[in-house]
Amino acid sequence: MCGIVGYVGGQSATPIIVEGLRKLEYRGYDSAGVAVIHGGQTQIRRAVGKLKNLDKLLLEQPLTGSLGIGHTRWATHGRPSEQNAHPHETDGITVVHNGIIENYLQLKQRLQEMGRKFKSETDTEIMAHLVATEMQGGKDFVTAVRSALSQVRGAYAFVILCQKEPDKIITAKNASPIVLGIGDDESFVASDIPALLAHTRKVVFLEDGQMAVLTKKEVTITTLKGEPVQFTPRHIDWSPVMAEKGGHKHFMHKEIFEQPTAIADTIRGRVLMEEARVHLDGMNLDVKSLRRLVIVACGTSYHSGLVGKFIIEAIARIPVEVDLASEFRYRSPVIDKETGILAISQSGETADTLAAIKEGKSLGASVFAVCNVIESSIARECLGSGGVLYTHAGPEIGVASTKAFTTQLVALYLLAIHFGRERGTLSKEKATEMLNHLRQIPQQIEGMLSREASLISIARRYSKARDFLYLGRGPNYPIALEGALKLKEISYIHAEGYSAGEMKHGPIALIDDKMPTVGIATSGPFYEKTVSNLEEVRAREGKLIIIATEGDSKIATIADDVFLVPKNDPLLDPILTVVPLQLIAYHIADLNGTDVDQPRNLAKSVTVE
Ligand code: M6R
Repeated sequence: MCGIVGYVGGQSATPIIVEGLRKLEYRGYDSAGVAVIHGGQTQIRRAVGKLKNLDKLLLEQPLTGSLGIGHTRWATHGRPSEQNAHPHETDGITVVHNGIIENYLQLKQRLQEMGRKFKSETDTEIMAHLVATEMQGGKDFVTAVRSALSQVRGAYAFVILCQKEPDKIITAKNASPIVLGIGDDESFVASDIPALLAHTRKVVFLEDGQMAVLTKKEVTITTLKGEPVQFTPRHIDWSPVMAEKGGHKHFMHKEIFEQPTAIADTIRGRVLMEEARVHLDGMNLDVKSLRRLVIVACGTSYHSGLVGKFIIEAIARIPVEVDLASEFRYRSPVIDKETGILAISQSGETADTLAAIKEGKSLGASVFAVCNVIESSIARECLGSGGVLYTHAGPEIGVASTKAFTTQLVALYLLAIHFGRERGTLSKEKATEMLNHLRQIPQQIEGMLSREASLISIARRYSKARDFLYLGRGPNYPIALEGALKLKEISYIHAEGYSAGEMKHGPIALIDDKMPTVGIATSGPFYEKTVSNLEEVRAREGKLIIIATEGDSKIATIADDVFLVPKNDPLLDPILTVVPLQLIAYHIADLNGTDVDQPRNLAKSVTVE
């Protein structure tokens, strides 16, 4: 997501920091800033937009000094603006931060009651105030940071400077990455390796719950309690291109592997376990007066809308229609004030989806969005109406949507639980059970990703097929559509997704021993029916690759290949079953040598009709 670079040594810090941030540009950002301590003073420069704007500012108002930190921000709390750009400073404490502070509202309120004034809308600024407060109470910089960290809940990578102790940088992490670079009489810190490679290949990855103090001469690491941590630096021999992709061959592969973190970030801070409720920041929808919901979206986001219909109707008992955004606006839709229109969009810039919500708004509906990009056109269109629920997937660079899709599904599940609780269709007990199931998902996906080798073998066996059929039922029917879309868009192989029950009404005619069928038959209410549809494929000598649930010993008797997903609530299965389909599509495309990240004829953001 955001980029961090810090430097302490004998050289001028600013160019090292800005060049380091440039190496992290591929991650996407909306503003950037640098802070340097020189002559006992902290000086900060920040600019909205691309790094060239910061370059220009630094030319007009240069920063000298050999200790500093910098940041490129991808907004989560607070719109992109100079005021919200990092670094944030108060009383000589300067902070940059990646991640989300879950308890920031409580902390902010407490600090305001103590008379502290905030200059930004960010959660990050809280950390500067916490450290400053601790230091005013007599603590030194290191002890103050440690005690501030003990008050913060959530995901973070902090890098902090203190004007009173201008020889050091402190960094700490929990769930967001931090890598330390060790040079000769200089030390570096960054959120990712590419920022360091021009200066050193000797690095240390900070672990969760660790804190490091960097000076020109040395790097020391401790736990948050202050216990010393022994470490051995690693030598990184990645090329700069490999480093950008975190060692993965393609961004798509990297993004598939980022799903556990992206999902955890989307859930973080939104679940109130004690009340079994969901807190949705940024949503102003009058949930109780909603009579009907219309979801509008395109492509992969449309598929998450189809899963959303299933989840919201099951949990909140609100009738949901799902429309392709490009169809909705031209079919004279029946919309009134009691209809809510939900736009789903990763980019927030898809022209058809934007036009659909404008149309809905003009007909009197409340419009709201599930979106990944803060301040995007769709988000802005919804802010004054029903609001926006942001997925915290971070920038998605591969054209094929992966982590954006699974985080959309998580957002829709949270939305359904919120609707259900507000409208009284979901009991506290049932909601507790669902939220517990949801929280297992990141770990369950980690487990599946560690079994990638078996999906590579499947991809090898079928990479030369020219047509594929994907079948699923219930909430896995949209996953059949999504699996087929993933394969066709990156490998250019023809693939069709169908509801398994519809197969006998047409597509069954296609089946022969040359056409592989991917069936999704997880345990739950649709299992038996799906399996009998898949048996019909088998009876016609079709090749069967089946995604089933762990513990299903029977499925191997009809399948040529099986991949088992962990057991969870059947309503959550789509978040799990799509992962092997993403990897099968990815490996088939890679084996066929297509341009996985930028497939022909496709754009990441479709801003034309
Ligand atoms: O940014 P959006 O979610 O609005 O984009 C919608 C589609 O263009 C997008 O999902 C597209 O289908 C992807 N290439 C799918 O991988």
